[in-house]
Amino acid sequence: MKYFITGASGWIGTAVTAELLARGHQVVGLARNDDSAAKLRAAGAEVFRGSIDDPDALRAPADASDGVIHLAFNHDFSAHSAAIATDQAVMTSILDTLAGSDRPFVFASGVLGRAGAGIVATEDIAIDPATVASPRALNELFALASAERGVRPVAVAFAPTVHGEGDHGFMAAYVAMDRAAGVAGYVGDGTNTWPAVHRADAAALVALAVEKAPPASVVHAVAEQGVRHLDIAEAIARGTGLPVRAFDTGEVAAKAPQFQWLERFLGVSSLASSAITQRLLGWTPTHATLIEDLDAGHYTRG
Ligand SMILES: NC(=O)c1ccc[n+]([C@@H]2O[C@H](COP(=O)([O-])OP(=O)(O)OC[C@H]3O[C@@H](n4cnc5c(N)ncnc54)[C@H](OP(=O)(O)O)[C@@H]3O)[C@@H](O)[C@H]2O)c1
Repeated sequence: MKYFITGASGWIGTAVTAELLARGHQVVGLARNDDSAAKLRAAGAEVFRGSIDDPDALRAPADASDGVIHLAFNHDFSAHSAAIATDQAVMTSILDTLAGSDRPFVFASGVLGRAGAGIVATEDIAIDPATVASPRALNELFALASAERGVRPVAVAFAPTVHGEGDHGFMAAYVAMDRAAGVAGYVGDGTNTWPAVHRADAAALVALAVEKAPPASVVHAVAEQGVRHLDIAEAIARGTGLPVRAFDTGEVAAKAPQFQWLERFLGVSSLASSAITQRLLGWTPTHATLIEDLDAGHYTRG
């Protein structure tokens, strides 16, 4: 099959592209600049030059594909509302194009804040628009509704840390925040938990999702139900030599103001299961755990 991928040059998209090519598919990746285009070509993908800021232009590559995987997102959290609006505009263009074709539309979502603290989020608990933690989750409901229009939409709700060597996401920011604050810190009493998944396991799941997940399914890219922040902080301390303790009130704002956006996410305690996903798609996570990746020095070396 020939899949069009937005965000193909990103952290998860690079692994998804490699996984799909290894499974014998063709990949056309969206690239917004020369560097990303070169990266995609070197990986063996075709390139479509464009931007998610011009959603109409994405109709042609979507139409020429056997399905679309939408991973691109603007992660500048100072412009989060605009990024969510752009995301919905991209979804609209692509879903209008795929309507009536039964082709797959696999898109990124998240498990963080999907259920209340202490409740294990499962794939069969629908998002409640009244209590949703992030307005981005509403885009998930919007896209899943396209099943009624002859699309096969599949939400892949990623753990908040999709970890591995080379990660530049939340976990890399967490370590940088600790270094700036001078402490391997945690928010609250450290019993907060985050689900986690290795990038290679996440990529394998996206491939299975585009190949065979049923219309309107929500699958969880989650290998570990909840890793305690105290355990994460201790692993960061082992790798950096920083002291472990809770962040003092106002400490991040004073010493690491560039990471204040992250403090909010660290305060969210989340648990999520992937038992339904594993049964549905025959997916078994096999790669390193988050603490193993931290102890391997992938985040703390250098
Ligand atoms: N990583 C995680 O732990 C995690 C957890 C939960 C959910 N997610 C979601 O999973 C998806 C993939 O995440 P990721 O970690 O792979 O993100 P990432 O590494 O930041 O990659 C983002 C991708 O989007 C592309 N992009 C950004 N703005 C664009 C624009 N204006 N036009 C075209 N392309 C643009 C980037 O292109 P360039 O390569 O040119 O920059 C890159 O390919 C995102 O929707 C993310 O929110 C990720």
